[in-house]
Amino acid sequence: MPVDPLHAPPAADGPRHVALIMDGNGRWAERRGVPRAIGHREGVQALKRTVQAAPALGIHCLTVFGFSTENWRRPVEEVTDLMGLVRSYVVSDLKRLEKEGVRVLVLGRRAGLPADIAEIVERVEATTAHNDKFILQVAFNYGGRADIVDAAQRHVDRVLAGEATGPLDEETFGTGLSTAGGPPVDVIVRTSGEQRLSNFLLWEAAYAELVYQNVLWPDYGPDALADVVDQYRNRDRRFGGRAAATPALAAG
Ligand code: IPE
Ligand code: IPE
Ligand code: MG
Repeated sequence: MPVDPLHAPPAADGPRHVALIMDGNGRWAERRGVPRAIGHREGVQALKRTVQAAPALGIHCLTVFGFSTENWRRPVEEVTDLMGLVRSYVVSDLKRLEKEGVRVLVLGRRAGLPADIAEIVERVEATTAHNDKFILQVAFNYGGRADIVDAAQRHVDRVLAGEATGPLDEETFGTGLSTAGGPPVDVIVRTSGEQRLSNFLLWEAAYAELVYQNVLWPDYGPDALADVVDQYRNRDRRFGGRAAATPALAAG
């Protein structure tokens, strides 16, 4: 969905859509002298706490970065552990998410996922498709560049099929991204102290606020998320314009 500067709610209203780069599981484990797999497992608990805390903070959508297109570069045992967590998260939480009205969407490339994970992804999306109280988007085998390339390819395919003509605009292009249909991203958060996007939501980041927190992901929870909301409320989102000024030109 394009950001319309004239109709974007003021930051003081709080973020509707928070995107989280859940980073620091490995360092959390290293500091405790335990295997990285334990850090990832505790990271899932942090995700559960965070999703449960979000609605009371006025948040309607959370997008979390679970596995990047570059994370395949990690040792095979770690990749296997991360895939295993998807299985156990879904087995242990799908019923509750369904009951609590959470719609789960999985962003990223399906091709390349192990067959049973691809099947789980389909099942989770289908089971929660009718829910609308809260949206949880899990970016898995996701890369911002891959998503932009895929959107471009979709448009090319539509043109070749005679289904699209005319010049391409941002709104049309955005419909090919995996975040199409969701609310605009208000704020992107990265934990663990690192300050980079690591290929997350490159298109959607255009006018998102950025928040960096020093907490390692397995220690994350309601207080850290409330701190994001506080920081966001103090931001002045201008979208290139000037607050309370009459724009010289209509957006676009
Ligand atoms: C984030 O934690 C989880 C994933 C990338 C899947 P990391 O595993 O990147 O933890 P650090 O950055 O090594 O501490
Ligand atoms: C980004 O974290 C990916 C996820 C959180 C899933 P990384 O830990 O993979 O990013 P880099 O390698 O530090 O940039
Ligand atoms: Mg990391």
